[in-house]
Amino acid sequence: MKTELYVYTGTGNSLWVAHQLAVELKEATLDFMPLLSNGLEKEADRVGIIFPVHIWGLPSRVIRFVNHLKVKPGTYFFAIAVNAGQPAATLLQLQKLMSNRKLSLSLGYSIVLPSNYIPWGGPGPVETQQRLFRNAQEKVKRLPMLS
Ligand SMILES: Cc1cc2nc3c(=O)[nH]c(=O)nc-3n(C[C@H](O)[C@H](O)[C@H](O)COP(=O)(O)O)c2cc1C
Repeated sequence: MKTELYVYTGTGNSLWVAHQLAVELKEATLDFMPLLSNGLEKEADRVGIIFPVHIWGLPSRVIRFVNHLKVKPGTYFFAIAVNAGQPAATLLQLQKLMSNRKLSLSLGYSIVLPSNYIPWGGPGPVETQQRLFRNAQEKVKRLPMLS
């Protein structure tokens, strides 16, 4: 099964997650999510979208990407919302956005990593950051698309 992974990242956390998935998945490609203003046609069997949560929701880049994506019928979608502990209803927002475009989000996962949002206190002590990365690594390994 051909999987295309698309990542949007501010400071690398989502890229770190996407890279691990790309290494583990067979026949996967990993690309940065383009800033789209025209339709983008894709032939993948499976599309994975990995992005950070921004203010309890989707970054505008992700909204734009989904709104311009054109795939073949039956394409399987999964998403990973990388966040600092407050994913809120971001994955539901994505599911709704996709459903408005007759796309179906089959799996949505939240992965908690250190915060890069300085107004909310930033990433915290190094020990906490290391623990979050360890936990995230374990969670990524258990993701159902890897079994
Ligand atoms: C502008 C901004 C808003 C954010 N809002 C949230 C939020 O609502 N909930 C949350 O859990 N984390 C929030 N974060 C933290 C990021 O989602 C988190 O640190 C993530 O790991 C960053 O991933 P990245 O390095 O791929 O950008 C925010 C970060 C930024 C920069």
